[in-house]
Amino acid sequence: MSRILSGMRPTGPLHLGHLLGALRNWVELQRTSECYFMVADLHALMGEYEKPGALRDNSINMVIDWIACGIDPDKSAIFIQSDLPEHSELAVLLGMLTPLGWLERNPTYKEQLREIEGRDLTTYGFFGYPVLQAADILLYRADKVPVGEDQLAHLELIRELVRRFNFLYGSDNSDALVEPQPNLTPQARILGVDRRKMSKSYGNAINLSDDEETVRKKIGSMITDPERARLTDPGHPDACNVFSYYGIFAKDRQPEVRSWCEGARKGCTDCKKELAGSVVEALRPIRERRSDLMKRISAEPGYLDEILRRGAEKARDTASETLRRVRRAMGLTRKTAVAAGGRR
Ligand code: TRP
Repeated sequence: MSRILSGMRPTGPLHLGHLLGALRNWVELQRTSECYFMVADLHALMGEYEKPGALRDNSINMVIDWIACGIDPDKSAIFIQSDLPEHSELAVLLGMLTPLGWLERNPTYKEQLREIEGRDLTTYGFFGYPVLQAADILLYRADKVPVGEDQLAHLELIRELVRRFNFLYGSDNSDALVEPQPNLTPQARILGVDRRKMSKSYGNAINLSDDEETVRKKIGSMITDPERARLTDPGHPDACNVFSYYGIFAKDRQPEVRSWCEGARKGCTDCKKELAGSVVEALRPIRERRSDLMKRISAEPGYLDEILRRGAEKARDTASETLRRVRRAMGLTRKTAVAAGGRR
């Protein structure tokens, strides 16, 4: 059975982009693979270190979003990165052999430095982002990593790092690290209600935790075909964000929508009302699972902690064994167990 690790940074409520771009795929993978899903709070800290106040709440809320979407804590290990010091330790060890040039060439690093304003990201931690990500993946000897396209460069760097490790420490230690393959998530591109990329920071997202009312309101505010000023003007569905939402949430209705739009037989307001109904319907299982989960949590306040404790325990079984092998490869093991206090 293949082993999967993936993670997300807890930076705020998850939205439809996360569902379509990652979570739907994660839920599917649970049926065929041994899965580890990690809350990448250390990675979030790289960007939010100046104001870490919301980190813990964001982490917990993200786990709630995951479970609501169908991540099953009985099947998959759900854990928080910083609960396992193994991640930090392996990152330090891998840092020893990571050439600076590889990190300097990392396209996401260059892009974020250029684009993110109002935060100082010229830090050692942020520069080393892919090294910590390498530790995340390699600790579990995961053979597949579901990621979006934006993470492919990181995966490639991580694969090179494994080859470098194996070159340096030889065939005796080839059981320590496994080269991971990216599992590219088929991207159903979904734009925000204002037609820009869906993102919390643009305030244009439909969140997975939004109630019915809020979803309807947000869809009602969507920008439609700008060339259709009056009801009697024929619309251009292929240029309309609302039409593309139909493609995602009610594909079978697209021909009908196209004909009423191009034939100027229905106005955008009504068209959006009907879309809202389909989206609300599509998200119903998520809302129901969330409400069950919240009831469970209020009856049993330690419920989530217990899930995370179990997840961390399962993760640690694998991670500590990998770290043991890496320490051995890098000369950090004493000859006898007794001399090492029996621990390693
Ligand atoms: N870098 C990922 C992101 O920004 C989050 C992440 C951290 C991750 N560690 C990971 C993803 C390991 C996959 C595997 O979205």
